[in-house]
Amino acid sequence: MIKHRIVIAGCGNMSKAWIAYAINREDCIITALVDVRLEAAAAMKTTYKLDCPVFTDITEAIRATDANLVFDITISESHYAVSTAAFAEGCHVFGEKPMAASMEEARAMIAAAEAADRTYAIMQNRRYTKEMMAFRDLVQSGGIGEAGFITADFFLALHNGKFRETMDNPLLLDMAIHTFDQSRFITGKDPVSVYCHEFNPAGAFYKGNAAAICLFEYEDGSVFSYRGYYNAEGAATSWESSWRVVGSEGTAIWDGRTAPYAEKAAAESDPAAFVYQHERLVADLTWTGKERHDGCLDDMFAALNEGRAPSTVCTDNIKSVAMAYGAVQSAKEGRKIML
Ligand SMILES: NC(=O)c1ccc[n+]([C@@H]2O[C@H](COP(=O)([O-])OP(=O)(O)OC[C@H]3O[C@@H](n4cnc5c(N)ncnc54)[C@H](O)[C@@H]3O)[C@@H](O)[C@H]2O)c1
Repeated sequence: MIKHRIVIAGCGNMSKAWIAYAINREDCIITALVDVRLEAAAAMKTTYKLDCPVFTDITEAIRATDANLVFDITISESHYAVSTAAFAEGCHVFGEKPMAASMEEARAMIAAAEAADRTYAIMQNRRYTKEMMAFRDLVQSGGIGEAGFITADFFLALHNGKFRETMDNPLLLDMAIHTFDQSRFITGKDPVSVYCHEFNPAGAFYKGNAAAICLFEYEDGSVFSYRGYYNAEGAATSWESSWRVVGSEGTAIWDGRTAPYAEKAAAESDPAAFVYQHERLVADLTWTGKERHDGCLDDMFAALNEGRAPSTVCTDNIKSVAMAYGAVQSAKEGRKIML
């Protein structure tokens, strides 16, 4: 039975994953495709053999097709206009990251969702892999004790990056937002301050700063250190970043590709030794849900159908957004920013 009548806003690269997902759900129908470039909407209609009208205006599309849900897969500069228009028409919104083009917009979008009593959930697909779930469980199970020092490295060269090539803060706002959100997911903690240095090393091929080093502090004194470079040619890390979480009893490692593991001091270690022997804890890859976009969308729909908040609801996601905009502000002003 059809429960959700979906308008797709933004028919670019990323919309393909969202459209394919919606087509496969029995409780959904795509009622309209919207893009400011009508030809992009028409092309997507042909590619997916959809029997629905195309529009350039989101409000017109919602009204003409009696939709109750909008997938906002436009660029971040358009997320505010698309989502607030959708809430004004009584629709729920599932949208792409980053939630907004500024903190002011993000706050206004949450207020609009709350005023309309609608759900607004943001895509954080990097939360949804077997390895990520296992790494989070390893860190939060207590096996390595209390997490005190967290590091993540992201080094990768994305060529033909389209809008990223001319963004002022391509790393922090397009990519690091994923890693910042992952850090909150892994630790279960929200940072209270950030200091960031943003720069373009020799050879950088984006206009805006493609590299940054950020230092986030948590309320309990623990620290998350992030190093990233979007134009780093060779010896790439995974897209998920390379992680180390040092706890009071041991260390958890995830390279972003293979199964995470941890090491802690072995019980048989000689207490007089300079360096203890270690035993290895291997994470169980027990997550059986779908992965990446499909996994995040599954949670959004389950939450909507069950009347609960999704894992990536806007009121929580704004804390990840605050990490990214706080880092941008810190780099600009050369000082530590309280979040
Ligand atoms: N979660 C991920 O892993 C991931 C990966 C890539 C991109 N993204 C995000 O997805 C979003 C889209 O990225 P993309 O790569 O598809 O970009 P894209 O440029 O390929 O497509 C964006 C589309 O939105 C349209 N558009 C812009 N403003 C609009 C508006 N007001 N109304 C209707 N259509 C509008 C554009 O014409 C374009 O067709 C961005 O927010 C990006 O950060 C997420």
